[in-house]
Amino acid sequence: MNEKTLTGKVALVTGGARGLGRGYALRLARLGADIAIIDRNLKGFEVYDFERKQMTAPTVMDECKQLGVTSIGLEVDLADRETTEQAVDQIVKELGSLDIVICNAGGGTVQFADELKPGAKDVNTPGRPSDCPQDMLMRVLNNNLMSCIYTCMAAAPYMKKQKQGKIVTVASTGGLVARGGYFPYGVAKAAIIYYTRTLAQDLGPYNINVNCIAPGIIRTGRLGDRSALADRIPLRREGTIDDCVKVVEFLVTDLSDYVTGKTITIDGGSCNQR
Ligand SMILES: NC(=O)c1ccc[n+]([C@@H]2O[C@H](COP(=O)([O-])OP(=O)(O)OC[C@H]3O[C@@H](n4cnc5c(N)ncnc54)[C@H](O)[C@@H]3O)[C@@H](O)[C@H]2O)c1
Repeated sequence: MNEKTLTGKVALVTGGARGLGRGYALRLARLGADIAIIDRNLKGFEVYDFERKQMTAPTVMDECKQLGVTSIGLEVDLADRETTEQAVDQIVKELGSLDIVICNAGGGTVQFADELKPGAKDVNTPGRPSDCPQDMLMRVLNNNLMSCIYTCMAAAPYMKKQKQGKIVTVASTGGLVARGGYFPYGVAKAAIIYYTRTLAQDLGPYNINVNCIAPGIIRTGRLGDRSALADRIPLRREGTIDDCVKVVEFLVTDLSDYVTGKTITIDGGSCNQR
């Protein structure tokens, strides 16, 4: 794996301060890419033991630098279009290009752990399709769907000019299986799958690949230990960050040059009808 297939490339990982995003950033750095991270809280790993214990440096950017690449971090809320455009412009200015974008920022929670009062528990999108509080509706759509669209729209002009690029969007099996209790998260993730298909058609003529991953139950600090659900999964275990990282490596390297507009589920076989 340690072949430096991405040397000379610049990769942006949104939501890269912890969890799955951190995993993508470290793998792309190991492959030689310079790494830009955008996150609303670049020290977001501090709120979960699981994440904090994995850190080998003060920030994920420092961990990438330890792997021998250049890395910068921008603390930005991607739910704002103008700020997202400015952040992407700054990355290109500082790192010279933008070749790979992983739109990973998001999550089903309404409030982030660092926003909660001590002892308070977050609501994990308990809205109903027939009735959802306005703040929950907008927050979850903004953090998942709009952040993804804004990031892609900000990156596209640079990639078009370069006539190459790889974009990976992040949905969820929650966007594939209709469950009322997953609202509005499921709607946001389903829309990301549709957006991926249309963006792939739009950017294909510019030699830009756009694909999506739809993880299932993956162990991160935010979602906690769900190994008890293993007997509902054909592969009989919850997923790991590395399970997702390997698929992302496939989608950002030349291994997938003729693949675009597709969604790959990473769920141990749970959604086997798709
Ligand atoms: N862990 C799972 O089981 C699982 C399953 C399916 C999909 N996913 C998706 O994978 C992605 C990462 O999940 P995770 O479990 O690592 O979560 P996480 O909360 O650990 O990481 C998400 C990161 O995104 C950042 N972020 C969120 N909204 C943002 C915004 N508006 N602007 C900037 N940064 C923002 C957060 O600060 C956080 O660092 C999410 O999109 C999530 O929906 C995760």
